[in-house]
Amino acid sequence: MSPRTAQTSAPVIDTIAERWSPRSFDADHTLPEGALRGIFEAARWAPSASNTQPWRFIVTRRGSESFARVAETLMGFNQQWAVNAAALIVNVANTVDAEGKPLPWAEYDLGQAVSHLSVQATAEGFHVHQMGGFDRAAVAAAFGLAETQTPVSITALGRLGSADQLPDVLRERELAPRTRVDLDDLILVND
Ligand SMILES: Cc1cc2nc3c(=O)[nH]c(=O)nc-3n(C[C@H](O)[C@H](O)[C@H](O)COP(=O)(O)O)c2cc1C
Repeated sequence: MSPRTAQTSAPVIDTIAERWSPRSFDADHTLPEGALRGIFEAARWAPSASNTQPWRFIVTRRGSESFARVAETLMGFNQQWAVNAAALIVNVANTVDAEGKPLPWAEYDLGQAVSHLSVQATAEGFHVHQMGGFDRAAVAAAFGLAETQTPVSITALGRLGSADQLPDVLRERELAPRTRVDLDDLILVND
C-alpha cells in the first residue's frame, strides 16, 4: 500500500484504491512492443450505449514526432510534467455513427472506456493521469480529425518517477492529501 492509496469508508478492490494521478513520471521508462495491448483491450470491453463503442485513441510514445505534436497542445503546467510520461494518448469520441446519426452518449461512453483503461493500467503497474487542459482544435488539426471526432481528454501513461524532480508548486500538489466528497453526500436518494 502506498501513501497515495485511497482511504476508503468501505472495502473496494485494490486496483481502484491504488489508482491515483501522479505528475511525476519516470522520464527514462519506455514502453516495450505490445505493452499497451492490455489497456486497450480493457477499454474495448467497456459498455456503451447500444454497443456503439464510440471511443478512438491516438497513441503516441515519447520520442516520436506524434508525441511532440500532442505535447505541444498541452496547456499550463500540464506540458511541464506530462512530457516525462512514456505515452500520451488522446481520447477521441466519435460523435456520429457510420450513417451520420448522432451518438448522444459518445463522451460518456469514452469516459467509461478510459476508466476501464485506467484500472487495467494500474493493475499492470502503470500510472495514468488524464488531462482536460489542452487545445482541442490544435489536436484535431495536428491529426486531421473529422468534425465529428472530438478529442475529449489526453491520458499520460508511464511508470511513477520521483516527486523530487518536480518544480515546487507541482511537488506540493503531488504530495497533498487526496480528498473526496463524503459517501453520504453522493447519494441523492437511498430508499
Ligand atoms: C476529465 C479530466 C480532466 C483532467 N484535467 C487535468 C488537467 O488538465 N491537469 C491535471 O493536472 N490534472 C487533470 N485531471 C486529473 C484530476 O485533477 C484528478 O483525477 C483529480 O484531482 C483526482 O485525483 P486522483 O486521480 O489522483 O484521484 C483531470 C482528470 C479528468 C478525469
